[in-house]
Amino acid sequence: MKVTVVGAGNVGATCANVLATREVANEVVLLDIKDGFAEGKALDIWETAPINLYDTRTVGVTNDYSRTAGSDVVVITSGLPRKPGMSRDDLIATNAGIVRSVTEQIMEHSPEAIIVVVSNPLDVMTYCAYLSAGIDSKRVVGMAGILDTARYRAFLAEALDVSPKDIQAVLMGGHGDTMVPLPRYTTVGGIPVTELIGKEELDAIIARTQKGGGEIVNLLGTSAWYAPGAAAAQMVEAIVRDQKRIFPACVWLTGEYGINDLYIGAPVKLGKNGVEEIIELDLNEDEKALLAQSEAAVRSVADVLDRMNAEKA
Ligand code: NAI
Ligand code: 2OP
Repeated sequence: MKVTVVGAGNVGATCANVLATREVANEVVLLDIKDGFAEGKALDIWETAPINLYDTRTVGVTNDYSRTAGSDVVVITSGLPRKPGMSRDDLIATNAGIVRSVTEQIMEHSPEAIIVVVSNPLDVMTYCAYLSAGIDSKRVVGMAGILDTARYRAFLAEALDVSPKDIQAVLMGGHGDTMVPLPRYTTVGGIPVTELIGKEELDAIIARTQKGGGEIVNLLGTSAWYAPGAAAAQMVEAIVRDQKRIFPACVWLTGEYGINDLYIGAPVKLGKNGVEEIIELDLNEDEKALLAQSEAAVRSVADVLDRMNAEKA
């Protein structure tokens, strides 16, 4: 098995490191546009192999897509963060340009690959990769739900003083403040979370989860990478090992939840074919209303991309 990670920055290198350490693939290719950067990160990761005792070869390349040929899964983390003075539309245009060009080159060399998108704004960059790849939507999926639920589960584990291993949760909607955590579908060792925690405390944890990305940016001055990198690697592992795992992920909806033609977060089954099933929960009226708000927020960003593409055509 061969996995390529595009973008050797914080998230990409972390993802490659987790993939190598867990021996998810025989070879992990790390690609970046900055001269020597991916080579340096890959070499550093490879030098941990005798310490961490694994065989996965990690190879770094500067923009040489021929070295990515025949990848089974490709993770796209390339993109810029929003800079001061940059409008949201500028960021979409810049990152869409990067994601489009990366996806086209990836498909040229690995036409059978499944693509996992991480670049932000996540839902719309996943849509951009789907448009650029020209492949079945089941093979283009975005990472956000695992990260967002991991934050929610970590905060709950702290509040309840229990192991995070025992907390199961699902969350829907876009990757941003409008994400929709679902307490009705959150359990602790099989016990509904609502039996273990008061509404006020749970609401505060949900609010903290919705702003979880911003909390790290405020602390570090840049966005998170350990949890995002591990989350993307978990998706790759589910695909490579055909684990049929159930995760929230950003997927193309065509009528599920009453949402048409939009990439947005929903629970899915991930296996060797990519998104093997989109699971439809029986949401109540409040949950449906929150999802509708999130859909509107994601659609407004997707519309910006559609408008830019129409102007180019
Ligand atoms: P970073 O700045 O550390 O790394 C990005 C890398 O992409 C840089 O090394 C840069 O040289 C490279 N790059 C830029 N253009 C490229 C191109 N055309 N081809 C190849 N490589 C190129 O950023 P970081 O922290 O790794 O974040 C990466 C992306 O992931 C950002 O868009 C960030 O907002 C997003 N992100 C998404 C999360 C999610 O939950 N979906 C969570 C965390 C970050
Ligand atoms: C995060 O949630 C910023 O998307 C990034 O950490």
